[in-house]
Amino acid sequence: MKLLLLPGDGIGPEVMAEVRRVIATMRLDLEVSEALFGGASIDAHGVPITDEAVAKALASNAVLMGAVGGPTWAGVERSKRPEMGLLRLRKEMQVFANLRPALCFEALAEASPLKKEIVAGLDIMIVRELTGGVYFGEPRGIEKLPSGERRGVDTQVYTTSEIHRVARVAFELARGRRKLVHSAEKSNVMESGLLWREEVTALHKAEFSDVKLEHILADNAAMQLIKDPKQFDVILTDNLFGDILSDEAAMLTGSIGLLPSAALGAPGKAGLYEPVHGSAPDIAGMGIANPLAALLSLVMALRLSLGMTEAADKLAHAIAMTLERGYRTRDLGGSVSTAAMGDAVLMALG
Ligand code: NAD
Ligand code: IPM
Ligand code: MN
Repeated sequence: MKLLLLPGDGIGPEVMAEVRRVIATMRLDLEVSEALFGGASIDAHGVPITDEAVAKALASNAVLMGAVGGPTWAGVERSKRPEMGLLRLRKEMQVFANLRPALCFEALAEASPLKKEIVAGLDIMIVRELTGGVYFGEPRGIEKLPSGERRGVDTQVYTTSEIHRVARVAFELARGRRKLVHSAEKSNVMESGLLWREEVTALHKAEFSDVKLEHILADNAAMQLIKDPKQFDVILTDNLFGDILSDEAAMLTGSIGLLPSAALGAPGKAGLYEPVHGSAPDIAGMGIANPLAALLSLVMALRLSLGMTEAADKLAHAIAMTLERGYRTRDLGGSVSTAAMGDAVLMALG
């Protein structure tokens, strides 16, 4: 099994160092390689991801990234920004379904800014469409109008097949869970939202009537996530709303430093695994980033792309145990460093 690591920028390389240590300690039978990504690739090659790195990703069974971006590259022309490298990678890998689980660890029920009873036992799965919508729609750009004003345009666009394939993933996941899908859009104001609602309804009727489907407007979904998050099982939503709702869901678990994600395409194709958080420029270089989102992303890769369920269970257990033993990085109110958190996980692995 081939695993490509893309550490990226900011805290990306810091959390990836702990991933490497875990892979080595667990003696995982993986062919591991690495490539530069994001700002690191811009500095070395002038582009956020090279054709060679994309080819390497496509030839792997799983790709695990850290994070990309940061103020250093804020002035770079947009098409060459770190984030564009990530969008290119997602598009080329055709990983249209982004699974973002928000799970409240028992030991952390007190760590969320929300009351314990609201988040204890929380287990929701956000299924975010990842290769379409406003992130890729054309036309897009900033133009100068004859009046001298400037005009910025993005296009939100979805087709039937794009909606069906990601909705299918959400319904199938729900079958193995509480059999409940909330589909979140803005069908009250957006045409693409109306299409989303109609197509999800049609697919549900044709193939998934054993699963309960609820439609919810995305703004209400944002509110309900704070009011009563445990009402949700699977949340199906588009690229932009999924980006926002998953950061919101992160705080239900205690910290964005805990949220992993898996981006999947057609069965058998390589999956792309990434923490939901970014490069955290405000704490980069300080050695205090929480490595658990990256380690939990490795757990998802082991389980969903690398066929190593036993290793996945073992690592997930070690992470839960580390939290039970009271280890907390700064984002969770503690003072344990990134490396010491990695040490604690290695210790829990035995
Ligand atoms: P961010 O997620 O990087 O940081 C938001 C806040 O969360 C910061 O205060 C940060 O310190 C904290 N945080 C994030 N991860 C943490 C961790 N593991 N441990 C402890 N604290 C953590 O979001 P941002 O500041 O809006 O974005 C910074 C850069 O990252 C931008 O360039 C953005 O485009 C990029 N970004 C990249 C990805 C990715 O590569 N997948 C995801 C999100 C943002
Ligand atoms: C995420 C990030 C990315 C996104 C950026 C960095 C392109 O915020 O993975 O959540 O918006 O998808
Ligand atoms: Mn995001």
